Amino acid sequence: MAQKKKIPFYKKEDIVFYHVSAFLYSNLLLWLPLLAGFAAKSGIPFYFSNACLATGLCFPQTRPYIFKLDRFFRSYWGRHREGAKLSKKLRETLLGCGLGYEEKVRKQIGRETVIESKYTFPKIEILKDDFNYYIRFRLIYGQMSKEWLAKSETFQHSFKLPLVKTIVEDGYCMMVFQHQQLDASYVPRKEDDSHSIGLGYRLGERFDWEFDQYPHCLAVGLTGTGKSTFLRNLLIQFDPDWTLKIADGKLVEFNFMRKFGYEVASSQEDFISYVNETHQEVVRRFEDMMHHDVNDYRDLGHKPYFLLVDEFIFFAENLSTKKDKETGKTEKELLFDKLRDIALRGRAAGVNLILILQRPDSSFLPTVIRENLTTKVVLGAGSDTAYEMAFGSENKKLKALKLGEGYIMKGQELTNFSFAEYKLEDFKKDLQSRNVEDIETYKARKEKPEPIAIPRKRIQQG
Ligand SMILES: Nc1ncnc2c1ncn2[C@@H]1O[C@H](COP(=O)(O)OP(=O)(O)O)[C@@H](O)[C@H]1O
Ligand SMILES: [Mg+2]
Repeated sequence: MAQKKKIPFYKKEDIVFYHVSAFLYSNLLLWLPLLAGFAAKSGIPFYFSNACLATGLCFPQTRPYIFKLDRFFRSYWGRHREGAKLSKKLRETLLGCGLGYEEKVRKQIGRETVIESKYTFPKIEILKDDFNYYIRFRLIYGQMSKEWLAKSETFQHSFKLPLVKTIVEDGYCMMVFQHQQLDASYVPRKEDDSHSIGLGYRLGERFDWEFDQYPHCLAVGLTGTGKSTFLRNLLIQFDPDWTLKIADGKLVEFNFMRKFGYEVASSQEDFISYVNETHQEVVRRFEDMMHHDVNDYRDLGHKPYFLLVDEFIFFAENLSTKKDKETGKTEKELLFDKLRDIALRGRAAGVNLILILQRPDSSFLPTVIRENLTTKVVLGAGSDTAYEMAFGSENKKLKALKLGEGYIMKGQELTNFSFAEYKLEDFKKDLQSRNVEDIETYKARKEKPEPIAIPRKRIQQG
């Protein structure tokens, strides 16, 4: 996360005072020596700082530090100017759209009566990072969320910056404006061990998939819309400690990953056994959780578990539809039952499905399963049907997007996003240089039983 700097907000009546103090502060190193005379009278040892300054400037080793110090003070001026400019715009916009108030008050000065303006503004806090301004307003007593939501567009016009989002909650309104275009040509990198994966970028920010919160991902796109490229963006971020099983319906694209220790299916049978194993894992984790009286896989020290299936339809089409004598069910029914159970119970168990399909047709993917994949992605130029299947009938008329772009629905939130072009060769190189263990060490480590941690929290009883 980029660090955020604070930008000051000024009221109109304070501006002169802040101009002067910011000017003095930012030029501190210039006028400090002038205080030498004053020092003699007042007894404050300014000559000490002057001596330090002079000595510092004399030696080439210390000179850069003095300049650095000077730049530090001077940078304050820039921030002050930015604050003054933003404050002016904010004050004008707030008054213009009725979210700040001007009151005329009569004032008696001597014999004369003058009319003065008194302003009431919400309390404002401005933060800035490399890409956005984050402006937080504390709503004035009596103001309503919908007023703020309705007026947020006005701010966009007066700032002439794209509004990334407006959130109103707990008496505060937060507006985020993008001042710098994000570069979406970078593959997202994972810098921590949080349970989230960067899917790509949207206006003003990286868009992450918090898979504990929004389990299971469905990605849809016709051939050539970048599905495999998108997958590579995700795959490079998987923590080696998480379990990942990869099945590719075309059985070619991910084979090479085996030599880096990844589990990759090489046949239809492998795919079926991956689904079975994943389902068993859900069952096993549930038994474990019941036994220990907890309702979250993390409480038992289990790690996230993923079954990723690219070109899912190829596998689905090849499943036998002949009834088994014993169970009375076909191979296809049995397998879909398991997938449904994973989709339903996977969240608590930390077991996630990532299914990639060309079309999210219900003949290939039963609606119950689809509805439980809570993060849905449609890449490139999707059809109305694709949008409707993925995002519901109210969202079927979405604008078709270019290659490298798509829509994501995470929970109820629908957004468009971009993802990086990530060539297979680069992906291979990255895997190679990621210091991946050789396959033997990896296997040995995986075969060790997972430690069971002490439960963090217990289900509330009674
Ligand atoms: N984000 C992107 N930006 C630019 N070109 C892309 C992007 N993603 C994919 N492409 C290009 O689109 C083509 C198809 O990508 P691919 O991932 O193989 O699609 P799919 O798996 O859906 O068939 C490739 O030539 C790739 O270079
Ligand atoms: Mg592909």
